[in-house]
Amino acid sequence: MTAPIRILLVEDDPEDAEYLAAILDRAHDVQFEIERVDRLSSALTAATKTRPDVVLLDLTLPDAEGLKTVRRARLGFGSIPFLVLTGFHDEALGVDAVQEGAQDYLVKDKLDAGLIIRAVRYAIERQRAADEAANLRQREALQREFVANVSHELRTPLTAIKASLESLRRGGLSDPPTRERFIAAIERQTEHLARLVEEMLAVATLESGGLGANPQALELGTIVRQMLDDFASKAAAAKISLSADGFDKMRVWADPDHLIEILHNLTENAIKYNKTGGSVRITAQESDGAVEVTVSDTGVGIAKDETPLIFTPFHRTRYATSKKISGTGLGLSITKRAVERNGGRLWFESDPGKGSHFHFTLPRA
Ligand SMILES: Nc1ncnc2c1ncn2[C@@H]1O[C@H](COP(=O)(O)OP(=O)(O)OP(=O)(O)O)[C@@H](O)[C@H]1O
Ligand SMILES: [Mg+2]
Repeated sequence: MTAPIRILLVEDDPEDAEYLAAILDRAHDVQFEIERVDRLSSALTAATKTRPDVVLLDLTLPDAEGLKTVRRARLGFGSIPFLVLTGFHDEALGVDAVQEGAQDYLVKDKLDAGLIIRAVRYAIERQRAADEAANLRQREALQREFVANVSHELRTPLTAIKASLESLRRGGLSDPPTRERFIAAIERQTEHLARLVEEMLAVATLESGGLGANPQALELGTIVRQMLDDFASKAAAAKISLSADGFDKMRVWADPDHLIEILHNLTENAIKYNKTGGSVRITAQESDGAVEVTVSDTGVGIAKDETPLIFTPFHRTRYATSKKISGTGLGLSITKRAVERNGGRLWFESDPGKGSHFHFTLPRA
């Protein structure tokens, strides 16, 4: 037997409600779970709380009448499909209701179990298809925006390289200090380009892959310590201390490449946006079957008005751009995708001028 269909029945006439429930009870091949309410306001509350598969909505209720009921329902039920119930004499109202957003209408006096089952199943299916189409449109819009950003981001270093080469050709080669300056600029821009290409590949891979390519049980402490060793000389050069604790035998279930990428990006940021003499600390704790890792820094922090944009691809804060700190603005959006692909969450708190805490969760192994 398939899963029961959960119906929210909004009907204030007890006789009509009983009659409908009795018909649904007679269905053999489908099981229904019916929740009954007699007002639109209670229906809107119930729908957000229990998220039924479908709502059957009477149009004459103590707190709403006719098409007004439909309009409020459409706004309040969001993506939960609803069918309206009309009487024999107001079938025309049913047609209007469909135009206002109801999936279908059922005439109360002409009901039988088969008809309701078919209408309910069609309504659920049509709503699912509509949601899927809306999702697809949103993804396509994001992709178009990403491609537009990519072309812009690639063009900037390319233009700079071309300009430096041009200057070298026009005489810069013969003057050693000028030559060194242009070569250094070309080197810097080439490195930036290489990083952009690498990170864009990471975005594409994470976009196309399913849940972590190869999830497995990983010893978190070992990976964190190895990574801190890799960053040791960079941190020492910036006079920043690195520490990690709380990892005793803690194990997570994740793709190893993803985990390294996540830790690498967060630690790199914590060092890069820090202050001389500052510190970076990585800690972990268990909560609700998950492991929560926190990367804390005593750095420059993130201004409140820039907080909502931090995970947007290519976004860099005013601080990063004004101080000309190198970066593509892709690190955190890759990190967020990688965490989510492995079934976790990523978020942060920041105190401008004092530092930031980036947290992520992963399932415990
Ligand atoms: N720990 C942090 N403290 C302060 N600002 C941060 C921190 N982490 C990220 N940011 C801000 O968020 C922006 C986006 O970070 P993200 O890691 O995505 O890009 P990036 O570091 O600029 O470039 P890259 O792609 O090379 O990592 C950064 O440019 C920086 O302005
Ligand atoms: Mg970064």
